[in-house]
Amino acid sequence: MKAFVYRGPGKKALEERPRPEIAAPTDAIVKIVKTTICGTDLHILKGDVPTCQPGRILGHEGVGIVDKVGPAVTTFKPGDRVLISCVSACGKCVYCRKQMFSHCTTGGWILGNSIDGTQAEFVRTPHADTSLYPILEGADEEALVMLSDILPTGFECGVLNGKVQPGCTVAIIGAGPVGLAALLTAQFFSPAEIIVIDLDDNRLEMAKRFGATTGINSADGSAVEMVMKMTGKRGVDTAIEAVGIPATFEMCEQIVAPGGTIANIGVHGTQVALHLERLWDRNISITTRLVDTATIPMLFKTVESHKIDPKLLITHHFKLDKILEAYETFGNAAKTKALKVIIEA
Ligand SMILES: NC(=O)c1ccc[n+]([C@@H]2O[C@H](COP(=O)([O-])OP(=O)(O)OC[C@H]3O[C@@H](n4cnc5c(N)ncnc54)[C@H](O)[C@@H]3O)[C@@H](O)[C@H]2O)c1
Ligand SMILES: [Zn+2]
Ligand SMILES: [Zn+2]
Repeated sequence: MKAFVYRGPGKKALEERPRPEIAAPTDAIVKIVKTTICGTDLHILKGDVPTCQPGRILGHEGVGIVDKVGPAVTTFKPGDRVLISCVSACGKCVYCRKQMFSHCTTGGWILGNSIDGTQAEFVRTPHADTSLYPILEGADEEALVMLSDILPTGFECGVLNGKVQPGCTVAIIGAGPVGLAALLTAQFFSPAEIIVIDLDDNRLEMAKRFGATTGINSADGSAVEMVMKMTGKRGVDTAIEAVGIPATFEMCEQIVAPGGTIANIGVHGTQVALHLERLWDRNISITTRLVDTATIPMLFKTVESHKIDPKLLITHHFKLDKILEAYETFGNAAKTKALKVIIEA
């Protein structure tokens, strides 16, 4: 089969690889129909993710058709159309029992990380009964690809952890696919204002189309001042960090209102300053989270009923044999205006 393989920092290849086989009784083999590329895949290609070793097939998102199941799989059978969660969950361990699937002792984020992933014609999915979701006849499968990772990430790590409430003021820093997913799902709770901050005017334009009340380009260094002015010097109730660099986390520290929450989503690779000398008396909370995908069933319903339309995030389409081009396009988003790219296997 064709597969996209990480070959070490800065190196990648489309290769012929043997099809995966059932390795544990709870596994399924899924024939990929559509997959996509995540910002985290770009982190891996730079060599930022040491758990992902050269030779690994990347990808942790996608929809497909069950090809084979292990003898212990009871929920799915060959021919079933399924959504693949980016997080594999046994459903039984101490973390899974708390719905903290991202820390499953025999799963978590392993697909396209410590085991081969979805950017291939076939993938082996462990703990199939509790890590795959059935897709109903007639569903929009491209929209559902956004449910593997970015929608639950924006919603769980940003909106739920950030305690977004009716009438509150939210700032989202970073208008990439994850920040925009937080923007779409924050609107379930009718916040009064959603301010989106980024360096890319095109993404800020998109954000306004998706419901942001204000877009701020922070390139000139005046974003904090503008937010404080807009909020009567109070700051925002929820500051969502969706970039993953020190400057943007520190911006959250500067704009969070007394009693507010900083909800971190970004993957941080370097030390970030925590200004307790300024924040100790502000009654704030800071949350961190690796996406659990525990809200996939709920989000599924909101997509099926057209309460949100995650298809808005899809900007480009490629066939699997053009995946190197897809990476070029996704990796140069400022130039190509790419958000999510769909790859058809
Ligand atoms: N916690 C989790 O479970 C989880 C899951 C998925 C992704 N992530 C992380 O979420 C983050 C966002 O993911 P994405 O796919 O949307 O990434 P992305 O790179 O597509 O988007 C980041 C956005 O931040 C903007 N940006 C960069 N520097 C900025 C600055 N100084 N000020 C303002 N904006 C700036 C960029 O223009 C871009 O639009 C990444 O760090 C990713 O690894 C975390
Ligand atoms: Zn991802
Ligand atoms: Zn578990």
